[in-house]
Amino acid sequence: MKKIASLTLDGKTYELPVVIGSEGETAIDISKARKETGFITLDPGFANTGSCQSSITFMDGQKGILRYRGIPVEQLSEHSTFVETAYLLINGELPTRKELSRFSIMLNDHSLVHEDMRAFFENFPKRAHPMGILSSMVNALRAFYPELPERSDEEEINITFARLLSKVRTMAAMSYKMSLGHKVIYPRHDLTYCANFLNMMFDSPVRPYVIDEDLVKVLEVFWILHADHEQNCSTAAVRLVGSARVNLYAAISAGIAALWGPLHGGANQAVIEMLQQIYDNGGDPAPFIVRAKDKNDTFRLMGFGHSIYKTYDPRARIMEKTCHKLLEKLNRDDPLLDIARRLEEVAVKDSYFIDHNLYPNIDFYSGIVLRAIGIPLDMFTVMFAIGRLPGWISQWKESIDDPKWKLHRPRQIYIGPKMRDYIPIDERS
Ligand code: ACO
Repeated sequence: MKKIASLTLDGKTYELPVVIGSEGETAIDISKARKETGFITLDPGFANTGSCQSSITFMDGQKGILRYRGIPVEQLSEHSTFVETAYLLINGELPTRKELSRFSIMLNDHSLVHEDMRAFFENFPKRAHPMGILSSMVNALRAFYPELPERSDEEEINITFARLLSKVRTMAAMSYKMSLGHKVIYPRHDLTYCANFLNMMFDSPVRPYVIDEDLVKVLEVFWILHADHEQNCSTAAVRLVGSARVNLYAAISAGIAALWGPLHGGANQAVIEMLQQIYDNGGDPAPFIVRAKDKNDTFRLMGFGHSIYKTYDPRARIMEKTCHKLLEKLNRDDPLLDIARRLEEVAVKDSYFIDHNLYPNIDFYSGIVLRAIGIPLDMFTVMFAIGRLPGWISQWKESIDDPKWKLHRPRQIYIGPKMRDYIPIDERS
């Protein structure tokens, strides 16, 4: 039976349809409410607002579930590759062997970056944050790769997806090499997506990089776990900016800018900085936990809490295991990991964290993993951005294919001054 919600305002009752998702999630459809009632709904931060119906990612924050196109991330991180998962997110189904091979060839074919773009990289100030550079460069891609009239829309879109997925990875490694003043290493056709990235980052004419398949697997897992997370801040930014029908490069550039924030993608960097701060202060996490609980202190435990997960972040569990295995393999003791473990032990038993449902999120471990691979701290969020590209692309694609696509234009309740007259400057007190 169809469910209906009713809303009574000024003695009049309005019926609002109830929408039920494939996993039983429910929503009250208020899309006609303003027209019918004259009222809008108020939801700062949109925490109770569904901005779309989507068939890409399902997450249940109470149960700690995350699935891409129905498939649990636990299975994908164990059996899939980042490229295959990207294909799944963008196209809705796992690829056949032939489809995967075609997709991989396309990524390889579009992996080079226009040589003229090097001038941009060279002229950014040395201390510019890589996320700011990446956001600008992705926007600039449009100027270097304009739409060609002889291509069909579908061809153009598929090429744009491939360019973004492969060139952003190349640009990230390229900007790292340039920041060191080292020779840029080009992508190689014989390497997989993740192996290629590691090679572009760490190969050098004086010290050839030996590809370690275990490290490649760690990177596959890291990027698979970051590939999508439904309507988070950066994805919502991509959809919102994309709703104005700008080109995809501009929409993704907006997503990268949103991801940069320390409350979102910047948290993996913030976690390492916090652990380092604890280490520099003698290594005892206790005073930091006290500060995190203090209402008069703005300090928060980075890598703890999530706006949706009110239990363990399922990605954090996988990342934790990956992290421990990696450190064991590298036979490397990381004092920051020891601090992270002690911090977690204390925090998860603390009534403040229990009562506030604050558990470690993915960023709590991913920073240590990236550090162990050799990724420099200021590139951590760039690594997240590369991983999130398939999600941003698939969410953008879904939104433009939606027959009910609308320009996103939220409303507000104005609480400023009532109408008043302009006062000439000499008459103002
Ligand atoms: N440390 C201490 N207290 C916290 C923390 C934290 N990390 N996170 C939330 N709280 C407290 C708040 O002070 C607030 O307390 P109060 O109700 O007593 O005033 C309560 O928990 C709710 O906080 P909100 O900010 O309203 O919760 P929300 O769910 O919106 O926040 C967020 C989610 C922004 C991620 C928050 O937990 C946080 O700032 N965490 C640290 C940053 C971080 O790790 N971000 C990564 C998120 S995962 C990702 O983007 C991949």
